[in-house]
Amino acid sequence: SRPQLLAGKKVVVTAGPTRERIDPVRFLTNFSSGKMGYAMAQAAAQMGAETILISGPVSLPVPRGVKRIGVESAEEMLQAVKAEYADADVVIKSAAVADYRPVHAETQKMKKKEGGAVIELERTVDILQTLGREKQQQLLIGFAAETNDVAHYAKDKLERKNADYIIANDVSEAQAGFDSDTNRVTLFGAGGFEQAFGMMPKDELARRLLAAIMEREMRHDR
Ligand code: PMT
Repeated sequence: SRPQLLAGKKVVVTAGPTRERIDPVRFLTNFSSGKMGYAMAQAAAQMGAETILISGPVSLPVPRGVKRIGVESAEEMLQAVKAEYADADVVIKSAAVADYRPVHAETQKMKKKEGGAVIELERTVDILQTLGREKQQQLLIGFAAETNDVAHYAKDKLERKNADYIIANDVSEAQAGFDSDTNRVTLFGAGGFEQAFGMMPKDELARRLLAAIMEREMRHDR
């Protein structure tokens, strides 16, 4: 049996991609499969947490003991996370949220025309940053998907988004990041904390990450 490091805690995990609609049959999205987020939720539940998984459209089985809330767009994910935030103890943002969405989602299917086409985009709300601004007792854990200068951008996100930890994956590496069954990450924490994890299956990595974080938190008695 696993150490019940999260017994009595409420953990909210986001996972998967978002879909930003262009018209009724088209959308913008990314290659997130949800595997990393589902693994984090499974690990949290195994460690005794009441676990809420807010998931973009993926078809993975829901881990045992986890409550899943399905969402589609970044805006829906924002609203779902906010509704679970006030009494959460830990929030883990594994989802690959769209940074941009079409300004207008057409209500009818767009027709082909001569020449090219331009879709105007606008920024979505940064969910992690919003949570960071409103943070009370919650431990806020973000991810960072980078292709270059991983440590630099991860530390920047830690500070700018007021997160307690950032789990950085170098998504330029084969078998790491989007859609693979394995991942290789570095964990960055407030106060200059840094711990590298070798390449391993996402479910094992999720357990090790949560254990490392909760053990450090208990030592600091925060
Ligand atoms: O789903 P898998 O196929 O298993 O792949 C896993 C993963 C690569 C998607 C995952 O490990 C991961 O890195 N998730 C975060 C991807 C991402 O969006 O990174 P980012 O650097 O763009 O964003 C940084 C953080 O801000 C993330 O915690 C993200 O959830 C959050 N964010 C981003 C944009 C936005 N509008 N709102 C957010 O909350």
